[in-house]
Amino acid sequence: MAGFLSGSPLLRGQIDPFRDHPRVPKLDELMTALEFEPVFHAKLPRQVYDYTAYGTDGEFTLRRNRQAFDWVDLVPGMAAGKPATALELFGTPMAYPILISPTAAHVALHPEGEAATRQGATAAANTPMIVSNVASLPIEKIGAAATGPFWFQLYPKEDAALNRETLERAQAAGCKAVVVTIDQQAAVFEREAHDRHLLPQTTRRSSREPAPRTPYRIKEFRLFYDWKLFAEIRKLVKVPIIAKGVLTAEDARLCLEHGLDGVYVSNHGGRSLDYAPSTLEVLAEIVDAVGGKTPVLFDSGIRRGTDILKALALGASAVCLGRIPRWGLGAYGPAGVQRILEIMQAELVQAMAATGRTSLGSIDRTLVRTDFP
Ligand SMILES: Cc1cc2nc3c(=O)[nH]c(=O)nc-3n(C[C@H](O)[C@H](O)[C@H](O)COP(=O)(O)O)c2cc1C
Repeated sequence: MAGFLSGSPLLRGQIDPFRDHPRVPKLDELMTALEFEPVFHAKLPRQVYDYTAYGTDGEFTLRRNRQAFDWVDLVPGMAAGKPATALELFGTPMAYPILISPTAAHVALHPEGEAATRQGATAAANTPMIVSNVASLPIEKIGAAATGPFWFQLYPKEDAALNRETLERAQAAGCKAVVVTIDQQAAVFEREAHDRHLLPQTTRRSSREPAPRTPYRIKEFRLFYDWKLFAEIRKLVKVPIIAKGVLTAEDARLCLEHGLDGVYVSNHGGRSLDYAPSTLEVLAEIVDAVGGKTPVLFDSGIRRGTDILKALALGASAVCLGRIPRWGLGAYGPAGVQRILEIMQAELVQAMAATGRTSLGSIDRTLVRTDFP
């Protein structure tokens, strides 16, 4: 009977065959960031994997974010010395032009959640982490978890008192800059909608943000967004303010007009407007519109050191990584975050050496040949 039961495909079907299985590779066996994704997939429940992976609607922009890097060639060159990668951004000293993008609900990936992510980031040469407004731990706990720098990301609320309280707490906890996300007003995640009944509470972006019930599927709580909100936010924030989700030169100019300290080119990793352009395609025109008046941050689609170099060549001051650190955290905890960041740092140095660019200042558009359709 026991033999019959243990051989039964029905019984085996109850067990995730990869979960904590010895076939999961050891951390130091992984050589590239991309190799973390299958481990992340194998170790976490499907709905948690889906929540990280999906994009909006048909996921055209999600795919295009990756494809765009194939349309940019790098011009090789001989290295004249060891590449130097340190910089300072909004008063934050950085060993590499790399930060962690804000992403929600890390407790679904690891029991220590964002505290573990910060520990991994700090261990990787003090990589700054942008803590999401919908983190699964209180900002005070995340702030106290490690010594590396962190910034805070805000989803503005129509009720100004709520913004005030959130921003006061983030600044008291020690955030060095505030990133205000201006996209994702009306995004719908079809894969999440299907998985919703399976999701543990911690994977939802916020327990206060219910699924949209309107027939046109718009979350009404974000429909008040207006550039005027920056005048309100400015009164509440003593650190630099950066707008995240800029995809046009016109919006970049509006950022400057409204006194913002930085522009963050992002399409939310393909999770905002489907059929929006990839960020790499619009980066140069946004950099031109900003004209050096503020730094320009960049994310969406970065998986390799050469991707980082291409974004820097097209004018980004630094790049942010969204899904990659989540894969590291879910697959191996803080050590996974550290390792995946160190892989990206090392690949950037390697790419700089292979193109003969030994300082961040020497990286410019002559380094790339773009062939966007
Ligand atoms: C699972 C997940 C959750 C996210 N949560 C947030 C968030 O809370 N706030 C925010 O501004 N952006 C959020 N983003 C967008 C990221 O900040 C970033 O723009 C995007 O992940 C970059 O693309 P990449 O994942 O290809 O690197 C999230 C992205 C993912 C994948």
